[in-house]
Amino acid sequence: MRYLSLPDAVVGLPLRAVCVLLLALSASGCAKEETPRRVTGGDAERGLHLVRQYQCGACHAIPGVPGAGGDAGPSLAHTGRLGYIAGRIPNQPANLVRWLQDPPALKPDTAMPSLGVSEEEARHMAAYLYTLR
Ligand code: HEC
Repeated sequence: MRYLSLPDAVVGLPLRAVCVLLLALSASGCAKEETPRRVTGGDAERGLHLVRQYQCGACHAIPGVPGAGGDAGPSLAHTGRLGYIAGRIPNQPANLVRWLQDPPALKPDTAMPSLGVSEEEARHMAAYLYTLR
């Protein structure tokens, strides 16, 4: 046992390093795809469908949504890496979900109206918007 422990440690070290590296790589690979769904509890594909249905594109330019070229609101092209929603609300999943349901509740003087979006719908749309980076 005593003789085995030294080579074990020597061989085990690089192996462990490789494992950690592989884990890190696969984790970051997963994170890219899974993060929007995980953080908002929504489904990006359904979100895209809802964004079309609610005609968000009447006021927003949205890449990936044909005809979405409105300019009453900002482009949603980079919502996934936006620091603040509407210039002042920290862009965290819970805030984006609330924003989509009722913007004036978070920013009374905003020009974005409440569109009657349910919480579930907002989660799906937020999941989609977070894929836009
Ligand atoms: C009647 C026009 C209008 C419609 C319809 C509309 N928005 Fe907006 N939206 C705005 C305006 C104006 C702002 C800027 C608000 C502010 O800064 O106070 C905004 C802001 C936003 C923001 C924050 C963007 C940023 O850069 O800060 C998001 C996200 C957003 N809207 C998503 C949506 C989604 C999703 C829909 C459809 C469910 C939608 N909007 C429908 C007008 C609209």
